[in-house]
Amino acid sequence: MILTEIDHVAIAVRDLPAAINYYQRAFGATVDHREVVERDGVEEVLMKVADSYIQLLTPTRPDSPVAKALDKRGEGLHHVGYRVADCAAALKAMVAAGATPIDTVPRPGSRGTTVAFIHPKGSFGTLIELVQE
Ligand code: CO
Repeated sequence: MILTEIDHVAIAVRDLPAAINYYQRAFGATVDHREVVERDGVEEVLMKVADSYIQLLTPTRPDSPVAKALDKRGEGLHHVGYRVADCAAALKAMVAAGATPIDTVPRPGSRGTTVAFIHPKGSFGTLIELVQE
């Protein structure tokens, strides 16, 4: 089994402070990490759930992929991040299994991780992120 854990469930939101406040009130969740990822045009907040995270995502510019997702589908589940020991090996295995990669080689993610995204087409409608810590 290539996946070791669910790293995060990413939810696209328009109002980040309101979403943080909601998760704090609803679950008693606390902000574990906050980061602007310029190359992806997103600000993300991670709220820890055991060894996994809820990741709230909001666009920092109108042409970012998350902005496009919000325009197209509204707020809600954006992708699932699966933790892997070796991102390159996991990517290779997924492509061999018929997945369509968005990243053909792993690249830097937030919190110093190495990540690769897999297109929802060919993965039964879910955008998948492979996350190596
Ligand atoms: Co992610």
